[in-house]
Amino acid sequence: MATNTAPPKKKLLVVIGATGNQGGSVARRFLRDPRYAVRALTRNPASPAALALSALGADVVAADLDEPASLRAAFSDASAIFSVTQYWEPFFRPDCRAAAAALGVSCRRYAYDVEVRQGRNIADAAAGVAEGLEENGFWVSTLSSARECSGGRMTEVYHFDGKADVFPRYVDEWWPELARKMSCVHTGYFMTSWGILPASYLNKQAEGSYQMRFPTRPDRVVPHLDVNADMGNFVYAVSQMPPGKAYMCAGTFAGFEEYIQLWGEKNGVKTSYKQVTFDDMVADAGPGQEDLGIEVAHMCTYTDDPGYNGGMELLTAEDLKAVSLFLLLGAAWVRPE
Ligand SMILES: NC(=O)c1ccc[n+]([C@@H]2O[C@H](COP(=O)([O-])OP(=O)(O)OC[C@H]3O[C@@H](n4cnc5c(N)ncnc54)[C@H](OP(=O)(O)O)[C@@H]3O)[C@@H](O)[C@H]2O)c1
Repeated sequence: MATNTAPPKKKLLVVIGATGNQGGSVARRFLRDPRYAVRALTRNPASPAALALSALGADVVAADLDEPASLRAAFSDASAIFSVTQYWEPFFRPDCRAAAAALGVSCRRYAYDVEVRQGRNIADAAAGVAEGLEENGFWVSTLSSARECSGGRMTEVYHFDGKADVFPRYVDEWWPELARKMSCVHTGYFMTSWGILPASYLNKQAEGSYQMRFPTRPDRVVPHLDVNADMGNFVYAVSQMPPGKAYMCAGTFAGFEEYIQLWGEKNGVKTSYKQVTFDDMVADAGPGQEDLGIEVAHMCTYTDDPGYNGGMELLTAEDLKAVSLFLLLGAAWVRPE
């Protein structure tokens, strides 16, 4: 007698940014669950990061956030989609700097426009497959809207608004069916980003200690995230929740003064925290990097008031304990090389 031995059909998770920090962590976590197949998107399937994902069992597929047709093809048959956008690539890329100059806009504003455009491309393509997505099947990495949460006072935290203006704002406005299946995952500070502003994150003092220097007041509680280790676990837990909720993915909530002290103890080095002025932070960014200093100094000011999360009520790892026994969140105690 014939028996049906076909294995159950796997759910297909499509991961944007799979070769990066956030998407890579998510892809690796779901690859460990045999119920999921993972389709990893990248512009370059031959890169070492893409080949490593392939070796782990991911189906690596070429797609570009600036090419909507490539996204529509990449999303076909998706049960779930993880979305992330990268503000800082168009911010730093020399060709983007040249394009911004030709348009007469700052590289900060230019990168906001790219992030919004790419985010909308993701949303538009995902809307085309919304019917086939699971009830909670659109997981988006985002940040709070500085413009809205500050009551219109802060209009230049571009790397926050570039995310919030699409996820959730644009999706809510234009794609209600997709919006019903969406979960918004805000992310805390990545200590691993210290290399873009070394004189602010880890300012080496003459006597050998490290000083963290931001315009944020020392005890203002801030979310911190070990992105590579913890993003995947967090999103895995989110996938088991009902849709329509917003989260803060962070392992440690601490003021910068406490954070850098703990970091120093962990790494066996002396540390201190100094609240500096906006202009000090711009100067610390170094010559030619003023726009970077300005963008991050605006964020630090926003972090003080109304707060990194904009004062929003966001669920945390604590609220996910019931759905995930494997949620191991820590801080990012990365060592300065
Ligand atoms: N640093 C922090 O403290 C912090 C805190 C909160 C939020 N964030 C946000 O985190 C985001 C960056 O996330 P991440 O660290 O995961 O970035 P990442 O490690 O630089 O990875 C970026 C990913 O995006 C993909 N990508 C970029 N442009 C693409 C395009 N045009 N088409 C297709 N794929 C594209 C890249 O893929 P390929 O290159 O392989 O194509 C890569 O996989 C930023 O927007 C930042 O604002 C950062």
